[in-house]
Amino acid sequence: MIDVTKIRKDFPILKREVNGKPLVYLDNAATSQTPQQVIDVIVDYYSNYNANIHRGVHALSQEATDKYEQARIKIQKHFNAAKSYEVIFTSGTTHSINIVANGFSSLIKKGDEIIVSAMEHHSNIVPWQMLCERTGAILRVIPMNLDGELILSAYHELLSDKTKLIFCNHVSNALGTVNPIKEIIDAAHKVGAAVLIDGAQAAPHIKADVQALNADFYTVSAHKICGPTGAGVLYGKEEWLNKLPPYQGGGEMIAEVTFEKTTYADLPHKFEAGTPNICGGIAMGAGLDYMNAIGFDEIAAYEHELLEYATEELLAIDGLKIYGIAKEKTAVISFNVGEIHPYDIGSILDKLGVAVRTGHHCAQPIMDFYKIPGTVRASFSFYNTKEEVDVLVAAVKKAKSMLE
Ligand code: ALA
Repeated sequence: MIDVTKIRKDFPILKREVNGKPLVYLDNAATSQTPQQVIDVIVDYYSNYNANIHRGVHALSQEATDKYEQARIKIQKHFNAAKSYEVIFTSGTTHSINIVANGFSSLIKKGDEIIVSAMEHHSNIVPWQMLCERTGAILRVIPMNLDGELILSAYHELLSDKTKLIFCNHVSNALGTVNPIKEIIDAAHKVGAAVLIDGAQAAPHIKADVQALNADFYTVSAHKICGPTGAGVLYGKEEWLNKLPPYQGGGEMIAEVTFEKTTYADLPHKFEAGTPNICGGIAMGAGLDYMNAIGFDEIAAYEHELLEYATEELLAIDGLKIYGIAKEKTAVISFNVGEIHPYDIGSILDKLGVAVRTGHHCAQPIMDFYKIPGTVRASFSFYNTKEEVDVLVAAVKKAKSMLE
């Protein structure tokens, strides 16, 4: 059972006011807040052992290298990757996806087919469109229904021996839908296709086991799991990471360099050119430590309670419509009230101290599907409370009365 009063004390930002009101932070799908335990790790790094890694014989470099590599192992264990070198540090999910999209340029040919789901974030659409432009491959889309669930029968019909890659998010950032990725992965493997799962929105709520899922690639951003921005990982099966060429050239990713020829370093360094976000990687490990100490089962159960309560209370508002009512959902509620523009509601909520995201949430195809310009999105975390849901509901009612 979560002790939310105790947990909230770990987050300094939750004590602040916005526009003279206590902050009610409900934009967790955009970025999570940072507990003092992670802030301390960041301060400790820059105060005590800031140095470049894998390069120096001096003590600070060694300490930083050890902490960075320990973080990689923590992340490996959390996601149950078979090998630590299957965990590539990146600047976040977008970078992770682009490593794979770029790498497949040499493995994809004209007429091959790539499948994405209808509910992807732009970061899991645009890199594949760019790959199709470079190679002449064809992009196919798994359609969704009005509840915000993928239509799996249509997915099975799309699969053929032309299918080479499938991309799907584990959880939709705009709707909160938890997608049936195991079924998606198993079916893709039957036709010999590889699967990349965008885990950015799942990682704060679900502890994914990449081996049990049999995912070929899985991507995560640190800033959604109580860590800092600008850090994340790409998990890839060793066999795939060995097949893909490096994404960027530079220091650290080489074995030997001459002007005639360069050979590349082994995994994971082949994909880690340049000085990485050392502190970010270490702090990502600290974010996972913090969340694991609470427990992902406890987090999921508590957030589910918040989701049910908020759904019921919001639906009691006349004219409010929720987009995305999948049976399997994380604590994300996308909604509109009558014909009121989501931006106008979001602005009034902000005046009342309530932080939500408004707009298309980098998922324009979903908004086009529902024929709406965007939604107001309230996304909850384990440090939110039912009292904060009450503040949100009262604020939406006030906004409605002012705007209608
Ligand atoms: N992808 C993040 C969101 O959904 C930024 O808000």
